[in-house]
Amino acid sequence: MIKILANDGIDPAGKQLLEEAGFIIDTNNIPQEELLVKLQNYDGITVRSATKVRKALIDACPNLKLIGRGGVGVDNIDVEYAKEKGIGVYNTPASSSLSVAELVFAHLFTGVRFLQDSNRRMPVEGATKFNDLKKAYAKGIELRGKTLGILGFGRIGREVAKIAIGVGMDVLAYDLYPFNPEVEVVLGGGATVKVTVKTVSQDEIIRQSDFITLHTPFVDKPIIGSSEFEHMKKGAGVVNCSRGGLIDEEALITALDSGKISFAALDVFENEPSPRVDILTHPKISLTPHIGAATNEAQERIGLELANLIIDHFKK
Ligand SMILES: NC(=O)c1ccc[n+]([C@@H]2O[C@H](COP(=O)([O-])OP(=O)(O)OC[C@H]3O[C@@H](n4cnc5c(N)ncnc54)[C@H](O)[C@@H]3O)[C@@H](O)[C@H]2O)c1
Repeated sequence: MIKILANDGIDPAGKQLLEEAGFIIDTNNIPQEELLVKLQNYDGITVRSATKVRKALIDACPNLKLIGRGGVGVDNIDVEYAKEKGIGVYNTPASSSLSVAELVFAHLFTGVRFLQDSNRRMPVEGATKFNDLKKAYAKGIELRGKTLGILGFGRIGREVAKIAIGVGMDVLAYDLYPFNPEVEVVLGGGATVKVTVKTVSQDEIIRQSDFITLHTPFVDKPIIGSSEFEHMKKGAGVVNCSRGGLIDEEALITALDSGKISFAALDVFENEPSPRVDILTHPKISLTPHIGAATNEAQERIGLELANLIIDHFKK
């Protein structure tokens, strides 16, 4: 029987599918330092972002035939080395796109109505300074009719565009590579409508957007730094639910404190899992702890996609 270690867990739907196909699935987490010895008893391993599968671990486990990553980024796996050794490496890039896109909008709706600050201060001051707080949060704005700039028009960028169009926003899109600007927006009741977004340069996104959201991988340096903040519209908002480091956090604090931009929203941080305290406590930053893909629906889709990939791999 083929034994798979789901070291960072797997959705019960995926586990069930694998067990019905005759696999043994172990969901007990083995600490990283013990994997060198204990992973030798398995034919495959699935991970999320916590467990690292590096060259030394691959070398220590000659029986290993498959590494599965539930989610998008494979930076915790030495992919090329594993492939050289004939090990199948799989991820599930599309399963969480909608969940991340919805989180972007949770943050946008939060930022334009100061919810990040209101939710912190109401429990403490709501009973004694109600009217002061009411005044502090009086100048909210609506999203409808505003321009959303999307940097990176891949799977998640496209989902973000669909929601933006549904909300009544104008979308500007930029990607490093040519892309199809037409998106199919799914409306309630199952109806769909095709809309073409405006394709622009990165500089036009920076200068013309009311809000900017990032959906590119991190390569080696921030995409948004002090020069980009300088060229943004006054009062713009920025969202990073993509990868820590895409926004220069020092430049972000300066732009927020000077009033150049009105708010930021971060799901990802330069220094995960210990972000800077001045980022975590800033009243103009809406924060989540890297939960873009963390919905029940996305986890179920990830589990099922991974299970099917594993079944197909071992059937070959
Ligand atoms: N917050 C979370 O929990 C979470 C969950 C899933 C994915 N992500 C991250 O979201 C990001 C996007 O994921 P995706 O599934 O849409 O990926 P994707 O590969 O489908 O899309 C990324 C797009 O960015 C483009 N791109 C790359 N470099 C660029 C640049 N410098 N400027 C403009 N465009 C550039 C690519 O051409 C591609 O179209 C990834 O970094 C991923 O790690 C975060």
